[in-house]
Amino acid sequence: MSKKILVISGDGIGPEITVEARKVLDVVNARFNLGLEFDTALMGGAAIDATGVPLPPETLEKARASAAILFAALGGPKWDKIDRAIRPEKGLLQIRSALDLFGNLRPAILYPQLADASSLKPEIVAGLDILIVRELTGGIYFGEPRGIRVLENGEREGFNTDKYSESEVQRVGRLAFDLARKRGKKVCSIDKANVMECTVLWREVMEEVAKDYPDVELTHMYVDNAAMQLVRAPKQFDVLVTGNLFGDILSDEAAMLTGSIGMLPSASLNSSGQGMYEPCHGSAPDIAGQGKANPLAMILSAAMMLRYSLHASEAADAIESAIGKVLDQGLRTPDIHTAGTTLVNTSQMGEAVAKALRV
Ligand code: IPM
Ligand code: MG
Repeated sequence: MSKKILVISGDGIGPEITVEARKVLDVVNARFNLGLEFDTALMGGAAIDATGVPLPPETLEKARASAAILFAALGGPKWDKIDRAIRPEKGLLQIRSALDLFGNLRPAILYPQLADASSLKPEIVAGLDILIVRELTGGIYFGEPRGIRVLENGEREGFNTDKYSESEVQRVGRLAFDLARKRGKKVCSIDKANVMECTVLWREVMEEVAKDYPDVELTHMYVDNAAMQLVRAPKQFDVLVTGNLFGDILSDEAAMLTGSIGMLPSASLNSSGQGMYEPCHGSAPDIAGQGKANPLAMILSAAMMLRYSLHASEAADAIESAIGKVLDQGLRTPDIHTAGTTLVNTSQMGEAVAKALRV
């Protein structure tokens, strides 16, 4: 099995949180004899500046040859005015599509130590552990036709197409059911089947997939209601499965239940177990280079990578428990800082996790 890991640090806070994740990976690589080999590549704004495109062919080539990709974040105001076809985000969408990373896992777990950092009442979120499975390579993000055209009356019109084939729904459905089997055995499929045909089919196919999983309970919910239920009573959920756009929105919402989007990792998997691992937060250009970024989501993404693509679950567990220890010690970056805890910067946080792993 390949032990090659491609590290893409990207833009904004990307490079600084990547340094911390690498520190932690170096420690577990030695401690657990993992034999990991690291390489780096460019994507997003940094790639545009260096090569003119957000996903250089060399990056894609290296990605294809890797067991996993650890990616931080991309984009920023510097590239906001650039031609739509080569925006930094295109690099991310292209690599997801090129590697067929259809299954995006976004867990929202509330660390007991951070219950006060959530904007919701502690009793609503205490013990929260939900998993959003977002379809990542289809739906309205990729559907054709799309564009901005000029109508006969001279007015411009923007348009996109939402579409899902049966097989696209089946494979993400199976992924969600397989994961639910290993946890709370409940899948809630989110759609807008009262309005959109695309999601009428989505719902039908989910029902069909469910037949193969009699031990897992399937329910359905409209996306507007799901957005409300996530803040009203989030603990009713176990695994949520949904399309690309709804998943984008609901996963940001779910992230905030946990206090900070700076705590949430994600995995994007294809059917051969290859994956790209990235924090759910973006490049946060407003705080880039100031040591304010929380590196924990990036470090947790590295743990997910070890678990799902490198089959090194012992090392993944060790990282997660080291993070628990550091939170127990009261160390907090600004995004999770509350009264009575100790404010630390990005590298102090990363160093503390690495230190907890060394003992
Ligand atoms: C995410 C991000 C991306 C998305 C952007 C950066 C293209 O918001 O991973 O959730 O919309 O998928
Ligand atoms: Mg998003």
